This record gives sequence, C-alpha cells and structure tokens, in this order.
Amino acid sequence: MKRKHIFPAALLAILLIVSFAYTSDPQTGASEPKIILTPKPGPAPKINGTKIFGVRPGSPFLFTIPVTGLRPMKYEVLNLPNGLTCNPDNGQITGIIETPGEYNTTFKVTNKLGTTQRKFKIVCGNTLALTPHMGWNSWYVWENHVTDKIMRDAADAMVTSGMMDHGYMYVNIDDCWSVKPASKDSTLLGEPRDKNGMINSNKRFPDMKSLTDYIHAKGLKAGIYTSPGPFTCAGHVSAYGFEEQDIARYVNWGYDFLKYDWCSYSNVGRRDTLPGLQKPYILVSTILNKQKRDIVLNLCQYGMGDVWKWGKKVGGNSWRTADDLGGSFQGIGTALFRDGFDVFTKDSLHLYGGPGGWNDPDYLLLGYLSNWKGQTAPTPLTPNEQYTQVSLWSIQSAPFIFSGDITRMDDFTLGLLTNDEIIEVDQDPMGKPGYRVSKEGDLEVWIRHLEDGSIAAGLFNRGENEAKITAKWSDLGISGKQRVRDIWRQKDIGNFNESYSEKVSRHGVLMIRLWPLAK
Ligand code: GLA
Repeated sequence: MKRKHIFPAALLAILLIVSFAYTSDPQTGASEPKIILTPKPGPAPKINGTKIFGVRPGSPFLFTIPVTGLRPMKYEVLNLPNGLTCNPDNGQITGIIETPGEYNTTFKVTNKLGTTQRKFKIVCGNTLALTPHMGWNSWYVWENHVTDKIMRDAADAMVTSGMMDHGYMYVNIDDCWSVKPASKDSTLLGEPRDKNGMINSNKRFPDMKSLTDYIHAKGLKAGIYTSPGPFTCAGHVSAYGFEEQDIARYVNWGYDFLKYDWCSYSNVGRRDTLPGLQKPYILVSTILNKQKRDIVLNLCQYGMGDVWKWGKKVGGNSWRTADDLGGSFQGIGTALFRDGFDVFTKDSLHLYGGPGGWNDPDYLLLGYLSNWKGQTAPTPLTPNEQYTQVSLWSIQSAPFIFSGDITRMDDFTLGLLTNDEIIEVDQDPMGKPGYRVSKEGDLEVWIRHLEDGSIAAGLFNRGENEAKITAKWSDLGISGKQRVRDIWRQKDIGNFNESYSEKVSRHGVLMIRLWPLAK
C-alpha cells in the first residue's frame, strides 16, 4: 500500500474534508496548506492525558480528570487512597495522602452518551513529574509584558479551548513578575522585598495568592520563574542570597512549578566547574524538598556541563538542553532543522531522560508568538515544521509546554496541541525517550518504545524537497507482520511486513505506531 503524507495531487480531495488555510514559508516564500489532521473529539466521554501521577506524602494533592465529550459529566474514582476525594461534578481530585505507596485507581466518567473508564496510578513517594509536564508558559508570546490579567485569561483559555480536557495543567508565569529596580516603567517598580526579606511582585501582579487561587479553582496548577543570580535575564529581582525566603514565599502564594534559570549567576558563582554549575540547583532543590507542598523544578541553564547527565541528581524534574529555541524569531526554523542546534543533533539525550526528570528542548512555538518588536505574529514555522516540532517532542518525551497566545488559537494550532494519540506517545507511562535509528542524508527515522509493547516511529524529512522515507523493521529492531497506524490522523493504515514507506513533505513528518501481529 502506498500513500503520500501531504500529497499535492490528493489535495483537492483533502480540501473537501479538512479545514485549511495557506501560510508562506518565510525563507522560501513557498505556500503550504495548513491541513488539520487531528480529528475533533466526539460527544461520548473519553479520558485523556497522563495515566500516572506522583505526589509526596503530606503535600496537598490536586489533579483534574481530563475528559473530552459533552457536558454535563459525572466523575467517580474507584479505589481512591485514603485522604483523597473526587468532586463528582468537575472531576477535581483533592486532599492529602499520608501513606507512601502505589495506588491503582480507576477513573469512571459518564455523560448522556455513556460511561467510560480508565486506569490511573497515583504514586505517593519522593518523585514528581512521572510523565513530562503539560501546560502553557507566558514567555514567547508576552515576554516582558506579562500581567496578572494575562495569566488569568490564560487559565480561562486552557479550560474554554478544551486544552485542559487533553491533559494540559500548568499555567506558568515566566520572567518579569518581580520588581525591576530603576525601570522607566513605573508598573515594574516597588520595594523588591518586604522587611522580612520576602520577595514582592511588581504592580502588574497586585495579589499573587489570589492569582494562584483563581488558577487552582479551575483545577489547574500554577508556575513561577526566578534565577539563582541577583537578577533574572530581563533584569528583575531574583533569588540570590534569599533562596529560603523566596521558596517560602512561593509556597505561601501556592505555586506548584518553579523554573530556575541561570541568568546573572555567573557574576556570583562559577560556571567553569561541575560543582559550580550544580551548586545553585542543589541549594534550591534541598529547600524545595523541605516544603509541605510539591513544586516541580525545571532547570534552565541552557545545557551547560551536559546537564542531562546530572539534572536529576541535583533535584531537577526537567532541564533545558540548549539555548532559547525562539530567541531569534525568524531563526526558529533554523534552530529546529539545522545542525548545530540540539533538537535533532543531540541524539544521546534519551539515555538520561525518564520518569521524574525530563530533557526539555524548550517550548512549543505554535500559534501567535512575540516577534520581539512589541507585536505578536504567527509562528515562522511552516505547517509541516509545526507538525515536526510536536512529533519530535512526543518521540523525545519532552514537556508539552505551549508558549504561543493561548487566547487566540485557530483550529490548526489547537489540533497540533490536542491530538490524544500524539499526547499518549509523549505521556507514555514507561517514560523511555525515543532516539534516532536511521539517517540517510536529510531523512531520519526516530522511534520510541511504549508501555503496551508497541513502537511509535517518526519519519522526518529535514530536506528541502518532498522525499520517500522507509522505516525498515530491521532498523526498528522488530520483525514480522505489524499493524501500522497513522498517529496524527488516528487511523489504521494496514498490516505490513519488513518495512513501511511513505512520501513526506519538505520539513514534514509522518508519525506511525506499530503493533506486532500474532504469527
Ligand atoms: C532565559 C530563558 C528563557 C526565558 C528568559 C526570561 O532566556 O532561557 O526561557 O525564561 O530567560 O528572561
């Protein structure tokens, strides 16, 4: 059986059944259709997102069952551990577990079309982030314009867009919430700390506790950002010398996620030795471990000292593997597709990521982003490049943190972010990141082993022209007849022996999943 991935001759037919628009490639000027491959969720209840969740004993628990389908719905959890309850009307599970252990529960959700159920494991121990984080971060769209209202709108949009129903849960402020001394903008001024040394937010964030209460009331989680140096990358006050007070403040405000940068730390610490690179992260994670609140720790030091080799040891739940992917707006595509950046080239990262600690190649740069000239603009990635980013992130088990404008997504962007079969690859409970198994010039095949014994494979075309890519079973380490499914389209393609070949567009991808068939 032969099919093309995105196939010009079949375009007319496709246009009848899919919504589309055209965008131009900023480098070549060529226009490419924005084809929506993700099927729309149906009206029957369907449970999505992670199947496993870590919590520490004694910490407040919050997890909302992600479900697509018609509302109203009734939610129930079978075998819920002592200390937790599930709100039957909104699926929010809250409470505190005191006794460490693994709890095998079952989510059961009903609407007028029927009932569905799915297993869900709660692991009460010392490890958080048992699957990669899913959420939204303010940086690449709002950079230094972020406000309390923007964060509340983002939380609203995570619910109303339906992203929450697919497993997205973190609503994270990046830089620029604290005071910026001597700023010309009076809304960024104020006392950096109170008389006890506790950090203050600037005037754009009048009440941090009320902001996190707002986010939590929706069943979502809240994230914050700082740097171990005296100032963040954008020149705002950060943690150096006040680490204990600052963490106490975040706990008190109710944050659940902390991105810990490096900026300005080189002025007070050392980046030329491994102990120097590790020191600020050991300090912050030691303080976090003492809190009666679970705060996921994301290290953001751009990959220095091969952080993936020790990020987990110093307490990180994820670590940025390279510099900013979207630092130069027009260069995003270059960063994804050219050697010299990490995403395709650092191909031994899979040896280090796993449950509790993930490689973080930076955010999903889709939809509207800041163009760094004071405006937002559509991502410079072509439609195929956008499929490539999301696919590669899912194969590599990277966090799915969207950083475009969550309040202004078209159906194409929403489809990229909410494909449950792609999310299932990213969130696979076994947590084994994928790796490259073949490379012929610009054509690469990457695979990821999944918990149910199947394999996800990405057929990536990094070249400038459409090309046929073959996934050979011998490269994939399998043999015999396989059932092959197109993951983005959520459709079985057929049964194949020895290999599967497909034409893939310039900078595009075909994601397939393979299950061995009985001989
Ligand atoms: C660094 C980080 C970015 C962002 C900015 C904020 O550049 O890598 O992700 O947090 O700082 O200033």
